Amino acid sequence: MQKNRQKIVVMGLGYIGLPTASMLATKGHEVIGVDINEEAVNTINSGRIHIVEPDLDILVRSAVNSGNLRASLVPEEADTFIIAVPTPFKNGEQAHLKIPDVSYVDAATRAIAPFLREGSLIILESTSPVGTTERSVR
Ligand SMILES: NC(=O)c1ccc[n+]([C@@H]2O[C@H](COP(=O)([O-])OP(=O)(O)OC[C@H]3O[C@@H](n4cnc5c(N)ncnc54)[C@H](O)[C@@H]3O)[C@@H](O)[C@H]2O)c1
Repeated sequence: MQKNRQKIVVMGLGYIGLPTASMLATKGHEVIGVDINEEAVNTINSGRIHIVEPDLDILVRSAVNSGNLRASLVPEEADTFIIAVPTPFKNGEQAHLKIPDVSYVDAATRAIAPFLREGSLIILESTSPVGTTERSVR
């Protein structure tokens, strides 16, 4: 077993979150991958993938079969939280201003908030405007 085994929640199981979650699980950490897409959660729990990425299916299958990766619709207590949800540019009249939509980051932050305790590590992988982490903390 991994010496410094941690319990890690990864919010968002897309092109960034799923490889990250799977890699950490195959290194021996206990990983709970969280996504709001129920089909993605079910697909991953069956050891398959819902996105197109060469050879990622091999890594995910290995992670799920190891028992260290499970996907869920809801987060839970953990040592570390990794946020990898989308931050697309806003559409509509202001599209030309290329303003990022951080509402997914806000939703993921609110979802993990009840499970944070002193010493929790939160890593924001989502591409975010300067000041996002300070605003999230507040
Ligand atoms: N740090 C880096 O090196 C790096 C590199 C590339 C992209 N990114 C950034 O990472 C972020 C994710 O990119 P991606 O390509 O993985 O996106 P993606 O669209 O492939 O995956 C995002 C996933 O998050 C899920 N999601 C949305 N809201 C959620 C919520 N509230 N809780 C849980 N899951 C939720 C979606 O259902 C989706 O499965 C973007 O902000 C992108 O710009 C970072």
